[in-house]
Amino acid sequence: MITEENFIDFKCPHCGELVSFPQASAGFAQACPNCTQSLIVPEDGSEVGWQIPLPITTARLVIRRLEGRDWKDLLELVSDEDPSRYVHTLPLDEEGILHWLEADAHVKITTPDQMLHLGIEVQKGGKLIGYMRLQFTDPQRLQVHFSLFLDRKFQRQGFAQEAVVALLTFCFEGLKLHRAAASCDNKNTAACRLLEKAGLKREGEFVKDTWSDGEWLNTVWYALLEEDFAKSESPVT
Ligand SMILES: CC(C)(COP(=O)(O)OP(=O)(O)OC[C@H]1O[C@@H](n2cnc3c(N)ncnc32)[C@H](O)[C@@H]1OP(=O)(O)O)[C@@H](O)C(=O)NCCC(=O)NCCS
Repeated sequence: MITEENFIDFKCPHCGELVSFPQASAGFAQACPNCTQSLIVPEDGSEVGWQIPLPITTARLVIRRLEGRDWKDLLELVSDEDPSRYVHTLPLDEEGILHWLEADAHVKITTPDQMLHLGIEVQKGGKLIGYMRLQFTDPQRLQVHFSLFLDRKFQRQGFAQEAVVALLTFCFEGLKLHRAAASCDNKNTAACRLLEKAGLKREGEFVKDTWSDGEWLNTVWYALLEEDFAKSESPVT
């Protein structure tokens, strides 16, 4: 319900309490002041607010929050003999992963200064084959930096492309974000191609700004704006 003071009143979809947000926040994710769960302020006069649109189901995948049961698959991912130097920030042993998963369960999309992790699960068999990491980069929480990591056994099958397209749709249609960005080093051909194929534009390159394995690497930045996403023909696979 829109009140005279240009506030939208509705019930939290989690705790059922009445909440009120400025009309300018319609369609955006907010934290419920009563239960602190994240919700989306309804744009359509609904009596009840909207849930964050997760999980996301694509043709072959489910993109979802990580759960305690994922520890084995995550351990397999980080224990790969050739761990990627590009994205891993997860703990590397069983105990560390279990503790980390416990803490991650408390992170919400509206939690300040926290990374949100989303698992990439194959529908057939239910195995977790990778994860994505999102970090808001502005105080308004309209810009996100993301990265992703896929189990080597499942690479080159289009899974990352499918997951990135789903993530961009979630960011722009689900959360009404303004901009999604990603970065990698310029020798990471797989990541560069993946991001280009998903429709992100190469915006620039920082020269020798990252020291890794005994050499200076260039970081390439890619981004997609909401307005360009809306205009683009869906690259969904
Ligand atoms: C980058 C990464 C996620 C790609 O995963 P993937 O599932 O193999 O990617 P896809 O199969 O969806 O491929 C998408 C496109 O990326 C490109 N690509 C993927 N792997 C590639 C490789 N090894 N060499 C060259 N291009 C590659 C291809 O253009 C491919 O499209 P095509 O097969 O139609 O030509 C994966 O290699 C990975 O996890 N790497 C380590 C972590 C990392 O670098 N993350 C990126 C941080 S943003």
